[in-house]
Amino acid sequence: MSSAAAASETTQNSDPYIQSLFAERIGGANYGKSTEIYKFEKIKRAKRKALADHPERQLLDFGIGENDSMADASIREVMGREINQVENRGYADNGVAEYKEAAARFMQRQFGVKLDPETQINHCIGSKPAYAMLPACFINPGDITMMTVPGYPVAGTHTRYYGGDVYRLPLLAENKFLPDLDAIPDDVFRRTKLMILNYPNSPTGGTAPKSFFEDVITLAKEKEFVVVNDAAHIMLTFDGKPTSFLEVPGALDVGVEVHSMSKGYDMIGWRMGFVAGHPLVVKAFSDVKDNSDSGQFIATQKAAAAALDDDSIPERIRTKYRRRMEKLVKVLRDCGFEAEMPGGTYFLYTKSPTGTASGETFAAAEDATRFLIEENGIVTVPWDDAGSFLRFSVTYIAEDEAAEDALMAETAARLSGAGFQWKS
Ligand SMILES: Cc1ncc(COP(=O)(O)O)c(C=O)c1O
Repeated sequence: MSSAAAASETTQNSDPYIQSLFAERIGGANYGKSTEIYKFEKIKRAKRKALADHPERQLLDFGIGENDSMADASIREVMGREINQVENRGYADNGVAEYKEAAARFMQRQFGVKLDPETQINHCIGSKPAYAMLPACFINPGDITMMTVPGYPVAGTHTRYYGGDVYRLPLLAENKFLPDLDAIPDDVFRRTKLMILNYPNSPTGGTAPKSFFEDVITLAKEKEFVVVNDAAHIMLTFDGKPTSFLEVPGALDVGVEVHSMSKGYDMIGWRMGFVAGHPLVVKAFSDVKDNSDSGQFIATQKAAAAALDDDSIPERIRTKYRRRMEKLVKVLRDCGFEAEMPGGTYFLYTKSPTGTASGETFAAAEDATRFLIEENGIVTVPWDDAGSFLRFSVTYIAEDEAAEDALMAETAARLSGAGFQWKS
C-alpha cells in the first residue's frame, strides 16, 4: 500500500462521526460512497486504455470544452500593468465601475441594449457562480426552475440544494433545439420561479430566433416567472448577427442575461462575466454574491474591461472557430454523419451512430464514445439526455491552418474506415 493510501485509510478508520454529518443535498451519510462512474471519468478511462493499447497512435481530442488559445496579447498587457497598481490590491466587493461601464458599452454596441451600469449590471467571477447564486435569490422549497436539457446543470443543482425542483425542457433536433413551451403543464407554471435558457445553446449549437424570445417574454409575464438567458457562447454566433435576449422588447421586464468572458474572449481561466438586465434581479444577485465572495481581482476586471472595448478580439476568435467548424462539418458529412453547421458555439452536436457494419451495436451515445476512443483514437463527449448525440468540439490543439488540415485528414481517414451505421 502506498503511504498516501495508508494515510487515507487511517483518516477513514479514525472518523467516528464526520460521515454521518453530511447534508442530504450531497448524499447524507452515503456521501462519497456512490459507485456510479460519471461520463467524464469514463472518457478518461477509455483514453488511458486507448493510449496503453496503441501507444503509437495520436489521440484526436474533440472532447475538450475549453478555448485552446491564451487571451489576446493586448488583454495580457493591460493585466501586466494593472497588477502593479497599488489601488487594485484590495477587495473588489461587487465590482469596479470600469468593468460595468465597459459591459454597458459592449451591450449597446453589439446589441443596441441600453443599460445603466450602476443598477443593471454586476460582475461575477465567471458565469458559473452566477448560476449557483441566482436560485438563492428566488427558490424556496417546492419552487421550480425550468431548465433546458441537455444543458449546463449548475442552476438546477443549486435549485435542488434549496429544496426546489427542476422541470426539464427537452431540446430536440426536430424542434430546432428550442423547448416546446406549449407542452409545459399549468401546474408546473404555478410553482415556477425561474426559467433558464441558453442561446446560443451548448451543446446543441442551436440559436433562438427573436420570435421564440418574444413567446418566452409573453409567457413569463402571464405566468409570472423570471427568465435567465445564459449567453456564454454569444460571441461565437455563426448564423448571423449575435442576438441578445435583452434586445427583444419586454425582456428587461422579465429577466437577466448572464455573459461570460471565457469563450468569446479566450479568458476561460480569468473568471470574469456579468449579470445584466432587470434592476431588481441584478440587485438580489449582487446581495447574494456579496454574501458569497469578495469580487474578482480588480486588475482582472480592468483587463476584462479593455477586452470588452475591443470588438476585434471576439471577431478573430469567431473567425477561427467558424473556419474549424466548417472543416469538421465537411469531414463528418463525408464520413456519413448527419452534421450541419451549428448556429453558434464551438460544439458540433451530431446523431450518435447506432453500430458498425462489422456487428458492434451501441445502445447509447456513451457506448459509441467508448468505441470511438478505444478503436479509432477519437475523443468526443456523449449526450444521452434527449436522444443520443455526440459532441465534437473544435477547440483541439493545432498551431496553424496546416495543422488543422492534417488533423482533419487523419480524422477523415479513421472515421471513413470505421463503418458506422445509424439505424432508427
Ligand atoms: C453553457 C455554458 N454556460 C456557462 C458556462 C460557464 O462559463 P464560465 O463560468 O467560464 O463563465 C459554460 C462553460 O462551459 C457553458 O458551456
